[in-house]
Amino acid sequence: MEVNLAEGYVNEPIDSKLNLVSEIEKLKKEKNAIILGHYYQLPEIQDISDYVGDSLGLAQQAAKTNADIIVFAGVHFMAETAKTICPDKKVLLPDLNAGCSLADSCPAPDFEKFLKNYPGHTVISYINCTSEVKALSDIICTSGNALQLVNSLPANEKIVFGPDKNLGDYINKQTGRNMVIWPGACHVHKRFSVQRIVNLMNDHPDAKVIAHPECESDVLILAHHIGSTSALLKYSKHDDSKKYIVATETGILHQMQKENPNKTFIPAPPDDATCACNDCQYMKLITLQKVYNSLKYEQPEIIVDADLIEKAKKPINRMLDISAKLNL
Ligand code: 13P
Ligand code: SF4
Repeated sequence: MEVNLAEGYVNEPIDSKLNLVSEIEKLKKEKNAIILGHYYQLPEIQDISDYVGDSLGLAQQAAKTNADIIVFAGVHFMAETAKTICPDKKVLLPDLNAGCSLADSCPAPDFEKFLKNYPGHTVISYINCTSEVKALSDIICTSGNALQLVNSLPANEKIVFGPDKNLGDYINKQTGRNMVIWPGACHVHKRFSVQRIVNLMNDHPDAKVIAHPECESDVLILAHHIGSTSALLKYSKHDDSKKYIVATETGILHQMQKENPNKTFIPAPPDDATCACNDCQYMKLITLQKVYNSLKYEQPEIIVDADLIEKAKKPINRMLDISAKLNL
């Protein structure tokens, strides 16, 4: 059925008496579909997802699912990655406006020009980039495997790292390497306020600060622990503190609270006096209504050119292979 996608999502009216959660469950069974949801999604979207995880986990799940349809509750580059990993499946993104400022900070033509300055370098790109940038890369990484992946390469290997500058700087510091770094950034992780985090630390001297490596170095300096979203979740579970100040997108607090009902999680505030927490507006575009309509009408579908899939697949598969070998 033809639907209007002018707004980037299926905007068909929904009967207000419908229980969306059970209707989505029904449609999933009927169509052999799964929902893959990122940790930054709204709580109700995380709760209807068949798998909730970070970028690495989501790519690994896409690679092994037997479903015919993947509804990607995340942002565009994630859905595109899933389509690249399994081109024979139908991949749906409930709202095509779910972009990413980090992916946008690295346009492929500019990156291609930049790379010409560094012949003989291995190009490692963070998964938060377009398929065109992936196609220019040798290996893809996520925040969950970047350190181990870089460490798996010979110490004298010349590397260009993109597009996240903060993650690249963090890896350089941790490994003692001197990777050339593309100056991209995620607006959510860039805008944490050091002053407001320090104020929170003073108000809660028993709290530990945990931070994502996409944060600026002056935030990372304050952190007791640095890691990808799933690494932070794992840490909050096994560590014996009772209180944490969490410097990453606020969606992760839902899982942290669910897995640790007796601990307190305080979102680290951004550099914006009107707001106490730090949401990624792209992640929050995915709603139950959009997921329902997306499954019902099987739109908007992610289409990636076959040629581009071939090129982008190689560095993604290299990441999946290395991660499997390293047990990540
Ligand atoms: P991870 O999922 O690798 O933790 O990355 C966080 C992020 O910003 C995803 O958009
Ligand atoms: Fe992109 Fe940042 Fe949003 Fe993640 S949190 S999707 S990196 S803009």
